[in-house]
Amino acid sequence: MRKAVITDLPLIYRGEREYIQRWESSHEDGWLRQSERHLANWVEHFDRLVIASVDGQFAGYCLWMPEDGRALLCTIGVSEQYRCRGLGAALLKAYTDEARQAGLSRLTLSVREDNPAKRLYQKAGFLQTGADANGYLRFELET
Ligand SMILES: CC(C)(COP(=O)(O)OP(=O)(O)OC[C@H]1O[C@@H](n2cnc3c(N)ncnc32)[C@H](O)[C@@H]1OP(=O)(O)O)[C@@H](O)C(=O)NCCC(=O)NCCS
Repeated sequence: MRKAVITDLPLIYRGEREYIQRWESSHEDGWLRQSERHLANWVEHFDRLVIASVDGQFAGYCLWMPEDGRALLCTIGVSEQYRCRGLGAALLKAYTDEARQAGLSRLTLSVREDNPAKRLYQKAGFLQTGADANGYLRFELET
């Protein structure tokens, strides 16, 4: 795991776009129209972008931010060729470690009900606390 550097941004963009194409294809046009906003968001929270690398190659990322006294996992992704070898769990741990170090004890995230990524969160001890009308489940870890 390492901190992000500027050259990671195009790969994060690609990962985020692939996520939208896979899980929310009907929102892709809207997402693309807001590219500038996404970029500004990643830059604003650059210090909380964690990168997974394997043999020096970019392999995944996560971004978290504080919100209303809690920590929120904004996004997490592992490049397809590096999946199922523990990088997602390691990124999630980087998120929980960093948020705790920042003094936050309520850690939150949300995930689509049909995304198998929810197993990753459950295995890390996150508990489901609710759901919204768009099919997203809210998870929380209290430490
Ligand atoms: C979710 C994601 C980050 C997981 O990364 P990963 O490196 O493959 O995860 P890990 O290897 O650490 O897996 C840890 C556990 O998560 C679960 N899991 C994660 N993704 C899974 C998937 N697609 N299918 C089944 N189980 C999955 C498994 O239980 C796995 O544990 P196991 O191997 O002991 O069964 C990756 O699949 C990804 O980038 N998906 C696309 C983006 C996405 O959906 N992000 C989450 C948005 S909320």
